[in-house]
Amino acid sequence: MRLILLGPPGAGKGTQSERMCRRYGLAALSSGDILRAQIRENTEVGKTAAGLVEAGALVPDDVITAVMLAGIAEVPESPGFILDGYPRTVAQAESLEAGLASSGASIDVVLEFSMDDRLIVERIVNRRTCEKCGATYNLKFLPPGNAGICDQCGESLVQRADDREDVIVTRLDTYRAETAPLVQYYAGKGLLESIDASGPADEVEREVSGIVDRLCGSA
Ligand code: AP5
Repeated sequence: MRLILLGPPGAGKGTQSERMCRRYGLAALSSGDILRAQIRENTEVGKTAAGLVEAGALVPDDVITAVMLAGIAEVPESPGFILDGYPRTVAQAESLEAGLASSGASIDVVLEFSMDDRLIVERIVNRRTCEKCGATYNLKFLPPGNAGICDQCGESLVQRADDREDVIVTRLDTYRAETAPLVQYYAGKGLLESIDASGPADEVEREVSGIVDRLCGSA
């Protein structure tokens, strides 16, 4: 199973990716997490990405594609993987398709998470993450058991540098201009399934896993 999670910032892609990995044993490749790790390690990719990520702009297509295709190459063929945050432009989608085709693979389904902007801002400003294990929480909707501490590894939780309200506006604009065209792109290929991402996380998980189970059953 090879899945893409597509949707605006804060729609819950990372949260559901984590749950799908636990449920199906899939490998998760989050382009945002990978870029943030490169920034922390101050690699060449990290140096290119730092200012762009903090400002809510996209990293160049060739840079992110090289990183993601290298990550995909390391993932065992079975049971498959989830791409969270990649591709984000039509050019990236074409490069991904070509990269997978060179090893005889292709994407099985693209899940489009949709919800309105007001809820997006509320989710993002309240997000806290664990830099050690990558777990994501929400002060309002999905709080940790102990304030400020990761339930999974005990590390302190932090707020992402790009989770400020002014940057969120830019990220939403970037999504509409650069990434939203992928909805039509994948619909045209018959790969798109739409998810109402505005409900509670358990409800969204039921919807996502219903689609995955159906596709697995028909595989
Ligand atoms: P990235 O890290 O991918 O950010 P994003 O797409 O903006 O997505 P988010 O991580 O903000 O949100 P999410 O949908 O994963 O939501 P989450 O599950 O955390 O990218 C960051 C930057 O990297 C980009 O701006 C760009 O600069 C660069 N970049 C990345 N990929 C790139 C690419 N392909 N090309 C070029 N540049 C790239 O949930 C949000 C919050 O809501 C959390 O607090 C969570 O606990 C809570 N929550 C989740 N689901 C629910 C629910 N159902 N109900 C209530 N609360 C919920």
